[in-house]
Amino acid sequence: MCGIVGYIGPREAYPIIIEGLKRLEYRGYDSAGIALFDGNDLKVAKTKGKVVDLEAIVEKEITTNGKVGIGHTRWATHGVPNDVNSHPHVSNSGNLAIIHNGIIENYESLKQELISRGYTFKSDTDTEVLVNLIEDVQKQQKLKLGKAVQAALNQVVGAYAIAVFDKNKPDEIVVARLGSPLAVGIGPKEDEFFIASDASPFLEYTKNVVYLEDEEMAVIRFHKPIKIRKIEDDSLVDTYVQELQINLEQIEKGGYDHFMLKEIHEQPKAITDTYRGRLVRNEAIIKMAGVEDNMKRFLNANRIIIVACGTSWHAGLVAEYIFEDLARIPVEVEYASEFRYRNPVITENDVVIAISQSGETADTLAAIKLAKSKGAFVFGVCNVVGSSIARESDAGAYTHAGPEIGVASTKAFTTQITVLTLIALRLARAKGTISSSDFRTHLLELEMIPKKVEKALESDANITTIANIYKDVSNFLYLGRGYNFPVALEGALKLKEISYIHAEGYPAAEMKHGPIALIDENMPIVVIATKKGHYEKVVSNIQEIKSRKGKIIGIVTEGDTQVRALADHVIEVPDTLESLSPLLTTIPLQLLSYHIAVMLGKNVDQPRNLAKSVTVE
Ligand code: M6R
Repeated sequence: MCGIVGYIGPREAYPIIIEGLKRLEYRGYDSAGIALFDGNDLKVAKTKGKVVDLEAIVEKEITTNGKVGIGHTRWATHGVPNDVNSHPHVSNSGNLAIIHNGIIENYESLKQELISRGYTFKSDTDTEVLVNLIEDVQKQQKLKLGKAVQAALNQVVGAYAIAVFDKNKPDEIVVARLGSPLAVGIGPKEDEFFIASDASPFLEYTKNVVYLEDEEMAVIRFHKPIKIRKIEDDSLVDTYVQELQINLEQIEKGGYDHFMLKEIHEQPKAITDTYRGRLVRNEAIIKMAGVEDNMKRFLNANRIIIVACGTSWHAGLVAEYIFEDLARIPVEVEYASEFRYRNPVITENDVVIAISQSGETADTLAAIKLAKSKGAFVFGVCNVVGSSIARESDAGAYTHAGPEIGVASTKAFTTQITVLTLIALRLARAKGTISSSDFRTHLLELEMIPKKVEKALESDANITTIANIYKDVSNFLYLGRGYNFPVALEGALKLKEISYIHAEGYPAAEMKHGPIALIDENMPIVVIATKKGHYEKVVSNIQEIKSRKGKIIGIVTEGDTQVRALADHVIEVPDTLESLSPLLTTIPLQLLSYHIAVMLGKNVDQPRNLAKSVTVE
């Protein structure tokens, strides 16, 4: 993970880098650092903690003038988060400064080799090894920085996005990428360059961006057009400058206390944006180029394998119900991290759907590569345009959720379900497994979901009251059946990750096979008990909880009386089709976890130990 930022150009680098790091804190926030060339020397400041802690250190320790600089916000992999392990790292001579996102797997053997040649190390990091390796190559082979970086990277095994500069040649920054994202913003007059893990740090300066591909590097110089080369053989590759479609407002809080709350409330728009242009109700059709162009692959598929992690995996579980129910295609849903390490049986007739908000999750990316190597057709469902998973997939469909900054996924989940529902409906139509009237009903209902999400959001005050009652408990259970079993898992994950309260999700009927032993008068149990789908069975499960004195928070359909009579609290959501109900039932669970976390004083947008995109295995 980690976020990297760099600048070279006519402006002062410090404010650009500091503000850029704040925007990238979603990628990691256990330490931060900056290196600037002030016209005479290299100035480095770094510290354990967040970017605000870095700002305080910078004020005390270094001058902030300089037109060239690099900065880093870290999610620790090698070495605990402390000042010394923070980036940037400086080479033994004090000439080179580097920032790095990724892992150098063979760093230990490289380190021993460097130690035998007299190098010393202050930190436990793989990155300090890399910067000294570059320095060693530079000295031994008398190479310019770009060539030295290239030669060093050819000795490295692992993943990286790096930016490195030499204080003796401060008119250039060398960047390279393998497995971790790296974007270069090109100033409007082409006389300045912005380097970052994604485009958010430089949105107010330029909309022109080049995304480096894996195994590519560039030497970025003042006033010179960017040239991209292959790290392996130095061959030039075409520079593809894209125009960014997002704007600054989309990545700011817009009056909300937290990004998570803003993103919860953005769901009506995000879902609409996701089906817009794809769901054409008047013509009773679904248009998705990625599906249409590959219809044969989908229709001839033996099965669909869904690979994903975390919340995206939960969206995959919802999709399993939709695909099997509507399109009658067998589906397996796999944790990407497990899939790749268990020698799975994959054939050319399998379709693999990879789901990822960030499009950078290392485990999901590796699962895709494995599936492709076995000849499977890979379809990506990503939110971040141009992300690694989107590019690696054979075809795909973007969710149009807009930037999701809060570490806890919210609108990514509902827009993933929206895209997957559209695909399932399109395939069901093509296969003839859904009648034309059912198909129309689904389109109509899907189109009404954003309004119904707005209605579900109106329960905020009721949810706040419930949150206040249960905020101090140590455990929560979440139960759901059918389409709403994955929602129970997602509700529990949301609570765990931002409030640090232990929570488990279960299929409601599975409770009696073990978890029921946990129930006493201190245990709150969130039960999704909407009218359509297994309602009576869930009511029986609620009775079982009630007779063991558990506290019941029912998520019910508007107007419900049966569960209301049994439960300690109810939260209503509008009625819809069972297959679309996860898009509504998930809303109160997001708000419940949000309010509990806020009441407990937790950092909702940046929960401990987590990062927004997990680009390490
Ligand atoms: O970017 P991705 O969707 O691939 O991320 C997958 C998980 O890391 C992510 O969903 C994670 O579980 C979130 N923190 C959940 O809120």
